[in-house]
Amino acid sequence: MKQHIETSLSHIAKFAPFAEQTGASHFPIYNTGTFDLKKQDDSNGNKIYDYTRSDNPTREMLENLFTHVENGAGCVCTHTGIASVALLFETTLKANSHILVEADCYGGTFRLLKIFKEKYNVTVHFANFLHFDKMEEVLKNNPIDLVLCESPTNPGLKIIDLEKVANLSHKYNSLFAVDNSLATFISQRPLDFGADFSLFSTTKYISGHGAVVAGAIVASTQELSNQIHYYANANGRSQNPMDVYLISLGIPTLKIRMKEHQESSIFIAKFLEKQDYITKVTHPALESHPQYLLAQKQMAYVPGLFCADFTSVELAEKFIENTKIFGEKCSFGSPDSRIEIPAKISHATFSKEELAAIGIASSTVRFSIGLENVEDLIEDIKQALK
Ligand SMILES: Cc1ncc(COP(=O)(O)O)c(C=O)c1O
Repeated sequence: MKQHIETSLSHIAKFAPFAEQTGASHFPIYNTGTFDLKKQDDSNGNKIYDYTRSDNPTREMLENLFTHVENGAGCVCTHTGIASVALLFETTLKANSHILVEADCYGGTFRLLKIFKEKYNVTVHFANFLHFDKMEEVLKNNPIDLVLCESPTNPGLKIIDLEKVANLSHKYNSLFAVDNSLATFISQRPLDFGADFSLFSTTKYISGHGAVVAGAIVASTQELSNQIHYYANANGRSQNPMDVYLISLGIPTLKIRMKEHQESSIFIAKFLEKQDYITKVTHPALESHPQYLLAQKQMAYVPGLFCADFTSVELAEKFIENTKIFGEKCSFGSPDSRIEIPAKISHATFSKEELAAIGIASSTVRFSIGLENVEDLIEDIKQALK
């Protein structure tokens, strides 16, 4: 019987190697660097472990789970979310490669692309992935090895039609990767739409408690899975077992947390839409969002992340200064609500012009709505601008 994702997430230990032998409701943390080859027997098809950088049963549990829920062929859990982006680049790009990236991307990805450009002469083509004709022009005229986007994008909250982009990328023999950090696999599974890789920062909603940084990348085929494992071992990208344990503690509650983040964020976005100090609210669950219908079709839940443009930078800064519950913090997906000015913090690697091109102003505030009582959050917003 095909089970729903939340059922798999509630029985996380079943994905651990040797789970059948103990029936433990949580899995052991193999905090070891090495394994004795003489003690292991592969005559029954058992896997042999030798060194934790290459393979570790604790990490394998999480990799098995992510492979299962993303409908992939294999996964590598990485020590940060940006390490999974780096591993994607190390696996799919070489010197003088071309990559096509949605212009609205996480600031850390943008910085990494600059490094690949400077060090390895990788040509980075940025495009608006809502404009397929422009994308196709780039794909037709350049040997693109990899197409990459987020959906929703961070910080612009744009929704990309993943199936269309997958088809277009494959038409020109390019691999297609989706950064699924915002939606998470409980909401959308990029490989089902034809992507070759789904990667995500597990720092955010998946761990859900803001206690650790980590990431993962899932490949659609065994061949691509072998390649990410090869480069993860060679470049030392893999996650340590203790962090796997910390990440796993939040996973069974992912669905109920996402529902709550969604509900509260819609409530607050609608409240802000009515305030005269706000000029624009960008939230994929509001009918005013340009890709509202696609968001409804492609995702089961929207994340608790949205942007609001204030009438001035001064007002945005005053608001951030005066809130008592909202912290001025980067990152998202934690129980505590956060606000930040992307131009100052999470996307400071972009120039003002590059931000303007993706619709982000100096007075744009990004909200990450947590799990607090929503009335308390509204009161905090009201008192901050009294
Ligand atoms: C969309 C996206 N991808 C990747 C990352 C990087 O993840 P980490 O901070 O865990 O390295 C972030 C971090 O904010 C992000 O927003």
